[in-house]
Amino acid sequence: MIQHLLVAAILMLTWETTDGQIYVPSRRVGFVFDQIENKADIEIAAYLDPTCPDSAAVYPTLLEIAQHYSSDQLELRMHLHNLPYHRNSHVIAKAAHVLENFVPYNNTAFQWMSVVFNNLRSLHSGATAGKTDSQVIDRLADFANDLTGIDNISFRHMMSHYFFEGPARLDFKYGCTRGVHSTPMFTVNDVFLGPEAGAWGVRDWKVYINSKL
Ligand SMILES: *[C@@H]1O[C@H](CO)[C@@H](O)[C@H](O)[C@H]1NC(C)=O
Ligand SMILES: *[C@@H]1O[C@H](CO)[C@@H](O)[C@H](O)[C@H]1NC(C)=O
Repeated sequence: MIQHLLVAAILMLTWETTDGQIYVPSRRVGFVFDQIENKADIEIAAYLDPTCPDSAAVYPTLLEIAQHYSSDQLELRMHLHNLPYHRNSHVIAKAAHVLENFVPYNNTAFQWMSVVFNNLRSLHSGATAGKTDSQVIDRLADFANDLTGIDNISFRHMMSHYFFEGPARLDFKYGCTRGVHSTPMFTVNDVFLGPEAGAWGVRDWKVYINSKL
């Protein structure tokens, strides 16, 4: 009896410690613009929070840079790093995975983040303070429908599925392993840029990238 209890206790401990751990995904973490991976000389990884005004401010610049260079010169990888004090960021990031799955190979996650950043006024924590979690999902379902045509039942169903919850959590945890503490933060070829990069415009990025090509 004692032995059984011991085994049960050990099993429970093992379960407890493995359940919350980071897992190795079947492909690299983050969304890649134009889906062309591992071919470019320069990889910019951008750690953005979906309801962070500074992330929103830099986003159009990142898209312009990604479109300016060829795919063998530059790859833009977006990590959605959902800061815990931004109430809606995690569900918005999860929706990015849902919609990317719903319409693959169309930069859907990037298009979704454009929609979100353009509507930040109604999506930041303060704006939804009086709304329930379910009402927030309804709001996201409307935006998702406008962008991709997904119906609200399918959207809700996918939003409650661990298939999408897992990757949204993993991307945040991955950022933690890299020491990401604020947004936006950037790496170029895996090395972090200083905080001044958060204020760079298209011209600054081009000067910097051209100096590396
Ligand atoms: C892909 O995105 C474009 C907008 O960039 C949109 O017009 C088009 O309908 C999308 N394709 C699909 C299959 O949703
Ligand atoms: C979901 O979509 C249906 C049909 O488009 C609509 O009648 C319903 O009001 C929507 N539900 C919510 C919660 O938005």
